[in-house]
Amino acid sequence: MTPAARRPTRDRRTAFVRRLLRWYGHHQRNLPWRRTRNPYRILVSEVMLQQTQVSRVIPKYREWMRKYPSVDALAAASVREVRGTWYPLGYNIRPVRLHRIARTAVKNYGGRLPKSREELLGLEGIGRYTAGAVMTFAYGVPTPILDTNIRRVLRRVFYGDRSTHESVLWRLSTALLPTDRGYDFNQALMDFGATICTARAPQCKRCPMRSFCRAYSEDKRW
Ligand code: ADE
Repeated sequence: MTPAARRPTRDRRTAFVRRLLRWYGHHQRNLPWRRTRNPYRILVSEVMLQQTQVSRVIPKYREWMRKYPSVDALAAASVREVRGTWYPLGYNIRPVRLHRIARTAVKNYGGRLPKSREELLGLEGIGRYTAGAVMTFAYGVPTPILDTNIRRVLRRVFYGDRSTHESVLWRLSTALLPTDRGYDFNQALMDFGATICTARAPQCKRCPMRSFCRAYSEDKRW
């Protein structure tokens, strides 16, 4: 089937958005990076969160912000020190890239992160996901995002197929995004994937999508 033909009906998309936002209203997690709109802070949190669990990120995020409260502070530190601060999060190219981004921002953008998605994507270490997160969470421009957890949620709920193509999922993530609630919607997707539609033990009994979830109705639990 072609990607275009696979777009879920408007009714299912609308139900998903409504139920997700309602669920988030009751169950959202209280996380430090949700109390700021500072693009630098959002960027650091998203880079940390991409390969590391929330519970491990929280103390490191706080330590990082004490040491490097701004792009300028990070750019002024040595890469050696920055790598040390990152320890023991792992995937150690991440702090090196953050450091490089900070130096580029000082050199080319007056110590600020660029404002457009295209310019963000031009910085090494910022891919489609991270650019979308910064646009949505810092600049208030609703922009679709897709990470491992969100891919799993969309594949289960809408397709019941664990290999639905990446391009189909990006299109769906774009079609779902409510322009007036982009921030909440994207944060809600994260919380939903992390606490209900989890990789190993999905909480289907508590899931608000159960009545129309493809994987659930087809008895597929992966
Ligand atoms: N994982 C990636 N980004 C996240 C966010 N903003 N909140 C919670 N978990 C996340």
